[in-house]
Amino acid sequence: MSAEHTEAPDDQPLEDRGANRSQRPSSEAFLSFIAGQWAQAATGAGARCAPAPVAPYAAHRRERLSELFPGERLVVPAGTHVVRSNDTDYRFRPHSAFAHLTGLGTDQEPDAVLVLHPVEDRHEAVLHIRPMAGRDSREFFADARYGEFWVGARPSLTDLADLTGVRTAPLEELTDALAKDVGPGGVRLRVVPGADASVSATVDRLRGDADLTAAQTEAADAELAEALSELRLVKDEHEIEQMRRAVAATVTGFAEIVRALPRATAHRRGERVIEATFDGHAREEGNAVGYETIAAAGENATTLHWIRNDGAVRTGELVLVDAGVEVESLYTADITRTLPVDGSFTEVQRRVYQAVLDAADAAFSVARPGARFRDVHAAAMEVIADRLAGWGLLPSTVEESLSPEGQFHRRWMVHGTSHHLGLDVHDCALARREMYLDAELVPGMVFTIEPGLYFKADDLAVPQEYRGIGVRIEDDVLITADGHENLSAALPRRPEDVEAWMRTLLPH
Ligand code: GLY
Ligand code: MN
Repeated sequence: MSAEHTEAPDDQPLEDRGANRSQRPSSEAFLSFIAGQWAQAATGAGARCAPAPVAPYAAHRRERLSELFPGERLVVPAGTHVVRSNDTDYRFRPHSAFAHLTGLGTDQEPDAVLVLHPVEDRHEAVLHIRPMAGRDSREFFADARYGEFWVGARPSLTDLADLTGVRTAPLEELTDALAKDVGPGGVRLRVVPGADASVSATVDRLRGDADLTAAQTEAADAELAEALSELRLVKDEHEIEQMRRAVAATVTGFAEIVRALPRATAHRRGERVIEATFDGHAREEGNAVGYETIAAAGENATTLHWIRNDGAVRTGELVLVDAGVEVESLYTADITRTLPVDGSFTEVQRRVYQAVLDAADAAFSVARPGARFRDVHAAAMEVIADRLAGWGLLPSTVEESLSPEGQFHRRWMVHGTSHHLGLDVHDCALARREMYLDAELVPGMVFTIEPGLYFKADDLAVPQEYRGIGVRIEDDVLITADGHENLSAALPRRPEDVEAWMRTLLPH
C-alpha cells in the first residue's frame, strides 16, 4: 500500500515524488462516482457520541489550570503525526497535557489544538480539530494520512463536542482565534512548548506583534509546561481507576511471560520472546506498552534500560522484566519483577533479591501523607547500604556511605528509587523540585518504588559469585488518606511467593 496524489509533472518537487509509485484516478466522472451511493455512517461524520465518563474530570482539570493563568490565552496542542520513515508515520499519540485536559486518548486527535480563551475571570475552552472530510472530497479516498479510505472514519466537530463536552471549531479558524485581541497591551499567549512546531511558530509570530522578546515568551511557555506537569501530581478518581486498569493488565502480562519462559529458553533470542509476549498482550488488552519493555536476562539485567532484548534466556539465571501496559486513556503501569528462569532462586540470587526486597519494604514503610518524596528513596538506601556493608563491599561505614560526600553504595544502584507515574511513565517530570523531590506526599499521588542492585560481570569490587546478577523489584504505589496502597500487590514479590506463583504457570 502506498500513498499518492496527482499525475506527476516533469519538474515535480521532491516532496511530491511519493506520487510516482501509484496513480489515483482523477477524472471528474470518477470523482462523482466515488462520492455517491454510500449509506449513512454509523460512527464518525456526525453520528452522535455519548459524553465520555472522563469529561467532567477533564473540565475540572481545565478549571484548575484556568485559575493559574487569569486573563491569558493558553494553547495546548495534541501534536502531529511523527514520521517513521518517508511517508510512513508512527502511531499517533497525543501530548500528555492535551490528553489530560480533554480526556481524549488513543489516536485522538492528530493536529487538534485545545485553546483556553480568557473570558471575564475564567476561561472558555475551544477544541480546534481537523474534522473528517466529506465523501465528495479528494481527501476521502486519496489522502493516506487523513482520508477515510486509508485511516478509517474520523470524528466530526459534533462528535468530538459531544464526547468531550468542549466546544469544537475547525482547525482553519485556529490562527484567527489565537490572534484575537493580541498586540501591545493585549491578551498574552502561552503555548505548550515542543508539542506542535507549526502551532508554536504561529503563536511566536503573534507574540512578535506584541513586542515580547524571545526570552520572555520562552519563560512564559516554560511556566505553562511546569504548571501542566504539576497539575498531574495528584491523580483524581478517574485517573486512579485508569491506573488500576493499567496495573491489572500488566499483572496478567507478567503471567503470560512466565508461561512463555520454556519457549524463551529454547530460542536463541529468548529475551525477544519475553518482549513480544508482553508487548502483544499490551496491544490486546490496552493501547500499547507505556515504554519500551526491558527483558534482561543474566548479565543484561545490570544494564538499566536494556531494551535491545536480543540475548538468550538461560536456565539457572535470573531474568529482569520491566514492563507496563498503557491503557486506551494512555495511563501506564510500570512494574519490574526479577524471576528465576527455571522457577527457583539459587542461594546467592536469593540473597541479593532479599536485600532489594527489604529495601523496597523499607521504602513502602515511609510512604504515607506527610512524609517527603525524598524520604522514600532515603529509606531504601539505608537498607541497600546496610546489606552491602554486611557483605563487606563498602569502602566505608554505612553512615559514611549514606552521607552526601560518600554514597559508595550507589555504585550498585545509580538510579533513583521512585518517580511519579501516570500518563507518562516518568510523569510530572517538569514539576519544580519543591513540588516533586522535596514535596510532602499527599493522597492521590501515584509513584513507583523500585530499588535494585546491579553487579556487572566485570566489577572487580565484588566477589565472583555476585558478578552478572542484576535485581530490581518495582511496584506502583498510591498514597491514601492514612498510608498507601500497593496497586501492583497482586504480583508476587517475596521470593517464596514468586516461586510458588511460577510453579502454577510453568509446565511440570
Ligand atoms: N521503567 C523504566 C524506568 O522507570 O525508567
Ligand atoms: Mn520505573
